[in-house]
Amino acid sequence: MTSALDAISWPVRTDRLLIRPATHDDVEATWRFRRRPVVYEWITSGSGDFEEYAARFHHESRLSRTLVVELDGLVIGDLMLSVEDAWGQAEVEDRTKNVQAEVGWAFDPSHSGRGYATEAVDALIGLCFEVLDLRRVHANCFSDNVASWRLMERLGMRRELHTVRDSLHRTRGWLDGYGYAVLADEWRSRRSTGRQATPGPASRDDRDQRHDWWGVVLDSPDASKLARFYASLLDWRITSEGPDDSALAPEDGVAYLACQTSPDYVRPVWPSEPGEQQMMLHLDFEVTDLPRAVEHAVSLGAEVAAHQPQDNVRVMLDPDGHPFCLYTS
Ligand SMILES: CC(C)(COP(=O)(O)OP(=O)(O)OC[C@H]1O[C@@H](n2cnc3c(N)ncnc32)[C@H](O)[C@@H]1OP(=O)(O)O)[C@@H](O)C(=O)NCCC(=O)NCCS
Repeated sequence: MTSALDAISWPVRTDRLLIRPATHDDVEATWRFRRRPVVYEWITSGSGDFEEYAARFHHESRLSRTLVVELDGLVIGDLMLSVEDAWGQAEVEDRTKNVQAEVGWAFDPSHSGRGYATEAVDALIGLCFEVLDLRRVHANCFSDNVASWRLMERLGMRRELHTVRDSLHRTRGWLDGYGYAVLADEWRSRRSTGRQATPGPASRDDRDQRHDWWGVVLDSPDASKLARFYASLLDWRITSEGPDDSALAPEDGVAYLACQTSPDYVRPVWPSEPGEQQMMLHLDFEVTDLPRAVEHAVSLGAEVAAHQPQDNVRVMLDPDGHPFCLYTS
């Protein structure tokens, strides 16, 4: 059977790695890291059963799209390269055939944090554009799969899709999804400016080493639910999640918003009324398009407060009744 991989002259060497098409003999080497909990957590399928894994691995449709990555002769990761059609209208459909690729990856956590995945995926995208002459490369992941989308951002891929609770995770339930892509001309211009894949400015290590965080903690009858509301509202990422406490933060900066479960929580009344539970604080978020921001918040479960004191501000109530303001300056 011919495959897109046949057009490439193998093996491909990068500074530290060797990339080649997977063979039936790679089944055990790849299973060794794919069965590790931190990898299994995010990959589409996998189980503790080697026979099941092997049956899938040996299937021609999978093997013909799989590459392995070697470090000094040891298989430390695998890559998926799936050449596919783009969408197009009927009259121009012939120009949509085999013009883009979906890529994927899984790496041995024993070798993480040293840029090997970045180096290998960088080379894979380079092959797509420079050898296979494709016009677009894309990949998807759960929004909670931070290591994967950070890898894509390091490589200059653009987040162009954020789907809301559309992807079912085997233990975490319905999660948001991210879609990333890069076009050939973007990739080439990135190369021509001499920019290489580099660790992002706010690496996990940098973030862990900070000791100047500050945040606001909101009480809620369900911390995780309220955190997800604000994560969707603000497009911030959930940094920790549990039944008692959940937190979210923007990519940059030192501020975070946390939610803690309080079983005796009483919704505040706004505007305040004597003898009723009052708000203790409210949150302010600047927006550029107030009507659209209000519509978005309402679609996520917020309410527009009955009393609106200023034209450029909309006082909103989150699903637990905490007031927050969307405003334009
Ligand atoms: C996604 C995955 C491959 C990323 O692994 P990783 O170790 O974060 O990626 P790399 O090997 O490229 O290492 C990058 C890290 O090394 C650091 N690094 C060190 N030297 C580096 C170099 N020369 N170049 C780039 N990064 C370097 C980076 O700063 C980064 O650290 P940070 O995340 O703390 O900022 C890995 O987590 C994985 O296999 N996950 C499970 C499978 C999976 O999710 N597959 C995708 C399903 S959609």
